[in-house]
Amino acid sequence: MAERRPLVAGNWKMNGLAAQSSEIAAICAWTEKHADKLAADMLICPPATLIMHFAPHMSGGVALGAQNCNAEKSGAFTGEVSAEMLVDAGASFIIVGHSERRAGFGERDADVKAKAQAVHAVAACAIICIGETAEERGLGSTLEVVGRQLEGSVPVGSSGRNTVIAYEPVWAIGANVTPSVDEIAETHAFIRAELHRILGGQADSIRILYGGSVKPSNAAEIFRVPNVDGALGGGASLKSQDFAAIAAAYLS
Ligand code: PGA
Repeated sequence: MAERRPLVAGNWKMNGLAAQSSEIAAICAWTEKHADKLAADMLICPPATLIMHFAPHMSGGVALGAQNCNAEKSGAFTGEVSAEMLVDAGASFIIVGHSERRAGFGERDADVKAKAQAVHAVAACAIICIGETAEERGLGSTLEVVGRQLEGSVPVGSSGRNTVIAYEPVWAIGANVTPSVDEIAETHAFIRAELHRILGGQADSIRILYGGSVKPSNAAEIFRVPNVDGALGGGASLKSQDFAAIAAAYLS
């Protein structure tokens, strides 16, 4: 099985101003300090406005990412930002298909796939988000939904180099509840198997993150689940202390 270095990623969502530079500086300093013992990559995805602002100050190998992009390369799309622009600003990862974009901005699997392709085209890494709603879970359709989203959102040519999957049950996001570790294990194993079906051998190198109410108190047990290769955190990523405490589960 391919070796997958875990990824601890923070999604600031629509939060953060230039004054939050100190949070980034603290995360970089923590990562630098623990570099020898930290068995994970670190990533912060601030609002697009801050990527270029933070980029010159990154250290310790902490990467910068964006939260969304337009699938087009350039053109008359007022207000939109392309993958190339985000990479130009300093992003090396771009989140696509977050449930808040699927639910609030009408993004369908085909849109998510087009965005992931745009990310691949500029040699960045797409973090493709999938996950069932509370209603779908209640109907017992979690695996069916997740399978459909993978099939529809993951482009041909995806590999560990250009793609990360984030499994984020919608009902667990910002809700202070998570699935049980057994449920996470079942879903992540299913995602791995589906990736195999879609991509063949490349599937083993793709990191599958868990997202949804990850916090310092539950990170370690979630990270021990097979096929969990890190986390995508929202609320807890806004405070450098909490984010570092989550990553600390990967300290040896
Ligand atoms: P949360 O958000 O950690 O605040 O639940 C996760 C996400 O939406 O990526």
